[in-house]
Amino acid sequence: MIVEAREISQAVIGRLPRYHRYLGELISEGVERISSSELSKRMKVTASQIRQDLNNFGGFGQQGYGYNVKYLYHEIGKILGLDKEHNMIIIGAGNLGQALANYAAFEGRGFILKGLFDVNPRLQGMSIRGVPIRMMDDLEEFLKETKIEIATLTIPKARALEVANILVENGVKAIWNFAHIDLNLPEDVIVENVHLSENLMKLSYNISRYNEEHS
Ligand code: NAI
Repeated sequence: MIVEAREISQAVIGRLPRYHRYLGELISEGVERISSSELSKRMKVTASQIRQDLNNFGGFGQQGYGYNVKYLYHEIGKILGLDKEHNMIIIGAGNLGQALANYAAFEGRGFILKGLFDVNPRLQGMSIRGVPIRMMDDLEEFLKETKIEIATLTIPKARALEVANILVENGVKAIWNFAHIDLNLPEDVIVENVHLSENLMKLSYNISRYNEEHS
C-alpha cells in the first residue's frame, strides 16, 4: 500500500532521490535484489534508516529476500512523480538558464522543457536544444496555450517576485527558484529553492573545521 506522499515528512522525501539514484545504478549493474544491510553499506546510511524510510511507503521489503531492486526503483519513481511528464519553462535565459536548458538528462526524468523566456532582445531567435528563447511579452499568451507545471527562475532577485506573480496568476503551480530571494507566494504554490552558494558555505565550514583539526 502506498500512503499519500503528503503525510510523509519532507526529510524522508528529501532522501528518496538518493535511493532512486542508487537503485538505478544497481539496475545498470544487473543487481536484481538487495538487502537493507547491503544497500546501507553502499549508501553509508544505517539499515534501520533505510527500513524506516521505506516503511513510510508500505515497506517493499520481504523478510529473507531483501528488496526487489527494479520494483523499488519504479515505486520510488512513482512516489516522486517521475512516471509522469512535467512541462517546464525557464525564465531568464542567461548563463544559468542556458546551462539548465542544455542539460538533456532532465527530459529523461520526465521534465520536458517547453520554453525559455527573457527580456533581452539580443537573445530573441536563439534556441537551446531546439527550444526557442521567447520574449517575456509573449509569456502570458504562451501560458494560455501550453499547460506548464513548473517554472524555473534564473533571473536577478530584484525581478523574481513580480515574475513569480505573473506565473502564478497564469496557472503555474510550482517554481524552481534559483534567484537569491525567498518568494512570498500563495500557500498552494510549491516553491523549491536552490542556492548553490549555501552548499559551498557548508563545504567551506567543513574545510575550515578539517583544517583546524589537522593543524
Ligand atoms: P545572467 O545575467 O547570465 O542571466 C540572467 C538573465 O535574466 C539575463 O539573460 C537577463 O536578460 C534575464 N532577465 C532579467 N530580468 C528578467 C525578467 N524580468 N524576465 C525575464 N528575464 C530577465 O545571470 P546568471 O548567471 O544566469 O544568474 C541568474 C540568476 O541566478 C542571478 O540572480 C544569480 O544571482 C542567480 N544564481 C543563482 C545560483 C543558485 O545557486 N541559486 C547560482 C548562480 C546564479
